[in-house]
Amino acid sequence: MDYALITGSSNGLGYCIAETFSRHGIAPILTGRNPKSLDIAAQSIQKISGLTPISFAGNLTDEYAPADLYQFVCDQGVIPRYIIHNLGGGIQGDCKNPPLCVLRKSFRLNFEVSVEINSIFYDDLKKTSAKIVHIGSTSSLHHDAPPSYLTSKSAIVPYVKNAARSFAKDGLTIFAVLPGMLDHPGSYVDRLRIGDPDRHDRFLEKMTYGQFVPSIEVAHYIVSLCLVDSNMINGSIITIDGGVD
Ligand SMILES: NC(=O)c1ccc[n+]([C@@H]2O[C@H](COP(=O)([O-])OP(=O)(O)OC[C@H]3O[C@@H](n4cnc5c(N)ncnc54)[C@H](OP(=O)(O)O)[C@@H]3O)[C@@H](O)[C@H]2O)c1
Repeated sequence: MDYALITGSSNGLGYCIAETFSRHGIAPILTGRNPKSLDIAAQSIQKISGLTPISFAGNLTDEYAPADLYQFVCDQGVIPRYIIHNLGGGIQGDCKNPPLCVLRKSFRLNFEVSVEINSIFYDDLKKTSAKIVHIGSTSSLHHDAPPSYLTSKSAIVPYVKNAARSFAKDGLTIFAVLPGMLDHPGSYVDRLRIGDPDRHDRFLEKMTYGQFVPSIEVAHYIVSLCLVDSNMINGSIITIDGGVD
């Protein structure tokens, strides 16, 4: 049985990725802070695929959480074949000229945790010739986003490019996917749809096909790329936004 560790996967894009892996017979390892949301996600995946996900509840930005996650996964006797670094998002107070504490929180959430997990899991990942995917954002290209979010997401690009050269020597494959504005229940644009329809419509006008990017479609692209029996995707930075940028 192959396993896919997806960070931040009780909801949103991470959940869509976990569900899609499970439809291909790959058991997801789910993570999130809220145990109840994790249970709901796990039950839904089990109903859809018949697979029982492994769930880790905890705040991954806590100092020792990535090490705790590693120990937890080891205790289950599994080694992931796929790691999808999906954890990320905005930090309150991230506006013009953000204070250092906001910048640090954003880097921890959007960049540091993923690098730390790669480092801690590295020797195990060599054994499964793992594929590692980092979820960035097209804001790295158009630069129109809160400054701490934008810079911490952008750090993923050179990191992945650099890691692709060295990780390949150990049989690993690493690439990044940069989605545009995502649409799923509870996403930013979904909340705007009700809370601020004018702003929602202004964003929508910029979208090539008059729609935001369905998270389930991004999940299908990511899982398909993982399942291709080739490592030529290594080092790729792939934007999925319908051609907006
Ligand atoms: N939304 C967009 O428009 C958009 C656009 C481009 C790129 N992205 C990127 O795509 C990724 C997914 O975005 P999304 O909108 O799907 O996210 P989301 O809906 O906010 O989902 C977040 C998931 O992560 C978990 N989570 C949040 N903070 C956590 C923490 N500190 N420790 C552990 N788990 C945590 C949440 O569960 P709990 O709350 O229970 O912890 C939930 O399962 C992110 O990297 C984001 O930056 C998003």
